[in-house]
Amino acid sequence: MTRRRQAEVLPTRSRVLFRAAVRKATALLRKGEVVALPTETVYGLAANALDAKAVRRIFQIKGRPAHNPIIVHVANVGMAKGCVAVWPSVAARLARAFWPGPLTLVLPRAKEIPDIVTAGGPTVGVRCPSHPLIQAVIRRCGFPLAAPSANLASRVSPTSAEHVQKYLSKKIPLIIDGGSCRVGIESTVLDLSTPTPRVLRPGMIGEQALLAVTGKLRRGSGKGSILRSPGQLPRHYAPEARLVLRSWTDERDLRKQCTQFKVPLAKIHIVTHTQIPSATGFGRVAILPHDPADFARAIYAALHQSDEEGAEVIVVESLPDRSEWRALKDRLERAMAKA
Ligand code: TXA
Ligand code: MG
Repeated sequence: MTRRRQAEVLPTRSRVLFRAAVRKATALLRKGEVVALPTETVYGLAANALDAKAVRRIFQIKGRPAHNPIIVHVANVGMAKGCVAVWPSVAARLARAFWPGPLTLVLPRAKEIPDIVTAGGPTVGVRCPSHPLIQAVIRRCGFPLAAPSANLASRVSPTSAEHVQKYLSKKIPLIIDGGSCRVGIESTVLDLSTPTPRVLRPGMIGEQALLAVTGKLRRGSGKGSILRSPGQLPRHYAPEARLVLRSWTDERDLRKQCTQFKVPLAKIHIVTHTQIPSATGFGRVAILPHDPADFARAIYAALHQSDEEGAEVIVVESLPDRSEWRALKDRLERAMAKA
């Protein structure tokens, strides 16, 4: 899987460059190649969803376990209907409310979708992303794109082209730079294959917003429930450093808590949003916005940066216990889980 040449990185900052990037990505995808494309959530590693051989390369490049299905990205509802066996009215209502956007709908698969995409299962996850670049690429290709996040398996998802380069530059021919991702964490995954819809992976489209459209949601994916979405596995989205969630009363308390990590202060990075300590001695103090949408947009970049700077411990200030923060808590708790 190692290539001699580094991936070409194409910018999209003018109309001419945008069009050239779309043409290049489309040409490679038509040939069965795998390319990295921006979406509004995180960068995706895309291949023709109808080409089993191309999708197999995604698994190889990422080191992704074969039992983890891949989301299929479509440009509109018409294309989504081609990927599924049924399109219930609740799917139509959800698509009207949230597409294009960060919501993945899990439905019984159409027979056109290869086994490898669904990990052999009876359902497929479909999502219509809003980022104009991937929208344009899907429309020009005319086929749906299978795309997981463009990171190595179980590592932090990329929210910029530079993050993708760090992981995959020697493994793929092309990365399109579409700027920093507007949402910043992965889509909400909603299972519509059972009578009562159920969130398999929380995201920035929260349960309240979903409930307003579906009228009902099945609760609980706690211990003992069947594993329906491998994204629910612990130890996912993890940085190389050890990550901990902590709250502290004041700076003295934080510094005292840090002594227990038994690493030099310079190897400890703090990610904070309300209780901001002075940076003295710490490797870095990153101050993120105390707003869930803004925090989401910034958190993965903060984790990537700490990894690059060689942090051994990343202390993230605990998040509020409110529903708007739920998806962020989910991601950070998975990043903390021991392998
Ligand atoms: O925002 C996103 O969803 C990003 C961008 C690139 O679109 N994609 C993404 O893909 O996060 P990935 O592969 O990193 O995560 C997909 C999640 C996994 O947890 C997978 O198990 C779940 O969606 N999933 C996909 N198809 C499924 C299916 N048929 N049934 C249950 N879960 C499914
Ligand atoms: Mg992923």
